[in-house]
Amino acid sequence: MTGRTSSETPIMSRMPQDLSIVGWPVHTDRLVIRPARPNDVEATWQIRRMISVSCWLTSAAEDRVQYSDKFLDPERISKMLVLERGGAVIGDLMLAIRDGCAQTEVAIQAKGVEAELGWVVHPAHSGQGLATEAVRAVLRVCFEDLGLRRVTAQCFAENVPSWRLMERLGMRREQYSVRDFLHRSGKWMDRMTYAILASEWRARSLAH
Ligand SMILES: CC(C)(COP(=O)(O)OP(=O)(O)OC[C@H]1O[C@@H](n2cnc3c(N)ncnc32)[C@H](O)[C@@H]1OP(=O)(O)O)[C@@H](O)C(=O)NCCC(=O)NCCS
Repeated sequence: MTGRTSSETPIMSRMPQDLSIVGWPVHTDRLVIRPARPNDVEATWQIRRMISVSCWLTSAAEDRVQYSDKFLDPERISKMLVLERGGAVIGDLMLAIRDGCAQTEVAIQAKGVEAELGWVVHPAHSGQGLATEAVRAVLRVCFEDLGLRRVTAQCFAENVPSWRLMERLGMRREQYSVRDFLHRSGKWMDRMTYAILASEWRARSLAH
């Protein structure tokens, strides 16, 4: 345990297991970020059904019914946030709390100390920094409100906008896996994992 800073030490007593302790909605300059609701099915389906969007997502529903079934799964919807701009849903974010890696004897201390993020923004709203604005706010939620110690995300190496977004926010490329992820096109693609620690995020926030 030597060398670990206090900001990286998991605090069991305030370990979050869900997102209900956050004061939703979260407001940014241009967006409102809030937990997804069942009636967000249609708006998010209209975005996720676009080939230019779904081609990068781990799962692509065949039709609205299949999408709706998955969307309404209690476990899935509990990790999903939506982005509103001017009252309209323009995208969604996943915020999934995960366990950190640990040796067996200390595994309990690594429970629920990390989050994995994912993101989708309607192509009509891309290129304006809205995804950056939303993910920046969600990183703050992860570290300040939820007290997490590390946030990760991954993408196909060919998904340039996604890894540029992560780098813009100070996330570090930690893993580059060569042809280890089978895309539904049939091509084995390269994949990258990014992460940022709470201590790094705080140092970055102070510097800006
Ligand atoms: C990944 C995704 C969310 C990124 O969207 P994006 O539009 O590139 O990201 P932003 O909204 O932050 O916009 C960033 C761009 O706007 C520009 N921009 C304009 N104003 C800006 C501002 N105020 N702040 C930051 N960037 C700004 C940036 O320069 C950048 O353009 P560049 O990459 O050409 O330099 C989007 O491409 C998407 O939804 N893709 C489909 C789904 C997907 O791939 N999900 C991820 C799976 S891993």
